[in-house]
Amino acid sequence: MTMNDFSQKQDSSGHDLLRAITRLIQIGRLYEDNNNLAVEAVAAFKRSVGNACLGEPQVSLQIYNGRFFLQQEKLPLLRKHISLFNQMMQFMEKRKIFGWHFRAGLDRVDGKDILLFTRLLDRAGKEENPLDWLVSELDKNDIHWVAVIRESSLYQGDCLESTMAESETLERKKEAAKKTYQNALNSIKEVAQKLLSRNEVGIRKSVRMVQRMVDIIMEDATTFMALSTIRMYDDYTYTHSLNVAILAMTLGKKIGMKRTTLERLGLCGLFHDLGKIEIPKKILNKKGKLDDSEYEEIKKHSMASAALILKLKTEKYRKGHLLISPFEHHVRYDHSGYPSIDKRRPISLFGRILTIVDVFDAITSPRIYRPTSMSPDQALGHMLSDSGKYYDPALLKVFINMLGVYPVGTLLKFDTGEMGLSLHANNDRDQTRPKVQLLIQGKDKSYEKGKVIDLGERNPGTGAYKRTIVQSLHPATLGLQPASYIL
Ligand SMILES: [Fe+2]
Ligand SMILES: [Fe+2]
Repeated sequence: MTMNDFSQKQDSSGHDLLRAITRLIQIGRLYEDNNNLAVEAVAAFKRSVGNACLGEPQVSLQIYNGRFFLQQEKLPLLRKHISLFNQMMQFMEKRKIFGWHFRAGLDRVDGKDILLFTRLLDRAGKEENPLDWLVSELDKNDIHWVAVIRESSLYQGDCLESTMAESETLERKKEAAKKTYQNALNSIKEVAQKLLSRNEVGIRKSVRMVQRMVDIIMEDATTFMALSTIRMYDDYTYTHSLNVAILAMTLGKKIGMKRTTLERLGLCGLFHDLGKIEIPKKILNKKGKLDDSEYEEIKKHSMASAALILKLKTEKYRKGHLLISPFEHHVRYDHSGYPSIDKRRPISLFGRILTIVDVFDAITSPRIYRPTSMSPDQALGHMLSDSGKYYDPALLKVFINMLGVYPVGTLLKFDTGEMGLSLHANNDRDQTRPKVQLLIQGKDKSYEKGKVIDLGERNPGTGAYKRTIVQSLHPATLGLQPASYIL
C-alpha cells in the first residue's frame, strides 16, 4: 500500500466509523437488540472499527480544535460530510465527550453490549454530569472495550484514561513532536525524490504533516523550535526546508494567522527550495566561492521551485497558494535579490516571512563548504543591520522578539568556565538571562547533559549573579546537535 492509499483509506475509515456510530445511536433508540436492522448496524460498527485500526491495537476517534481526528490524523471536511460532522459534534458536545478509544477486535464483543453502549451514550445527554455518569455506567456494565476521551488533546494517544502525570504528558508531547519532525522530513524527501523520477507526485503526506505541525505549534511551539535547531550536512536541503517551515509557522502564529493560513505557509516553507533538486550537487556543495555561471545556476532554483510545484498532483487552489512565496523567497524587501520582479509589485506576506526565516536558518547552518557558521544570536544581530533593506522591519522585529536574545540551542560560555545550551526564551523574563542546559565533558571528551540552571539566579549572600555569559558560539563548534540535549 502506498502512503497515499494509506491516507485515503484512513480518511474513508474515519467517515465510515462516524457514520456507523451515528446509525447505531439512531437504531438503538428505535429497535430491540434482535431486530435485523440492529444486527446489521452492530456488524457495520464492528467492521468500521476493524477497518480503522489498520493493525493498531486500538482506534481513537476524537474532536480536537473543532475537527475530527482518527488515530491523531485529521479527517478532511468535505461538503458531503458537513452534516454528519455537525450532528455528531453537537451530540458529543452535549455530553462533554471529546471522543473514544475502541479496542481492536470487537468480533467477540456481544452485539447487546454494543447497543447498550450506544443507549448509555444517548441517555447521558439527559444527565446532569453526563461524562461522569457515562463512565461509571460503562464500568458498572463491564464495558471495557471502549474508553471515553475526556480532554481535548491529541497526545493522549493509546492512553485509555488520562491519568498520566504532567511530566509524562510532557514527555509524550516531545516524543510526538520528534516523530512528526521525522515524518515531515521523510515527506519532503519523498516528494523531491519522486519529482526526479516521475511526473505525478502527490503531497497528501506533506499536507498531513503540516497540519500536525500546526496543531503542535498552536498548543506549544517550544519543542518544535528546539527541533528546528537540527542541522545535517547530508540532508541539508531537507532539514533546512523543514526548519524554514517550522520557523515560518511559528512567526505566522505570533502575528495572529489562523490555522488554515498557517498550513499554507508551512507547505510553502517545505517546498520553497524544491527547485534545488535540479542544481548539480557539485555546485550546491562547492567549497569556496561560486563563479558567475555557477551562481546563475543557483539563482534558477526559486523559479524552478514554482515550476515543480505546478507539476504536483494536488488541487488547483492549493497550487495557487503554494506558488508565489517559493518564487519570491530570495527577493529582498527592497526588491533586490533574485529573480528580478517589478518594483511596483508588492512582495507577498508569505514571501517576506520566508525571506527572513530562510536567511536565519541558512546562516546559522554549518555547511560542507563552511564548517563554522554564525551563532543564532549573532545571526539575528547581523540581520538586524539590514532591517528595512533586505527584511520587512516589522516582521523582523517580531521574529527577533520571538526567538529571544539567545535563541534556543545557542551555545553559551560562562564566567565560571562552564558551558551550556540556551533553553526556550520566555518573554516574561530578562531575555539576556535565559534558562540553560549545562553541558559536562566526559572522559572521552564527549558532552553529556548536566543540570538545568537559571541565569537569573543570584548568590544569596552577595546578591551577584551566579553565572554571566562571556561568549556565545554555534553548537557546531563542539560538534553538537542541540536538539539531542534539550529535548
Ligand atoms: Fe532558496
Ligand atoms: Fe532556502
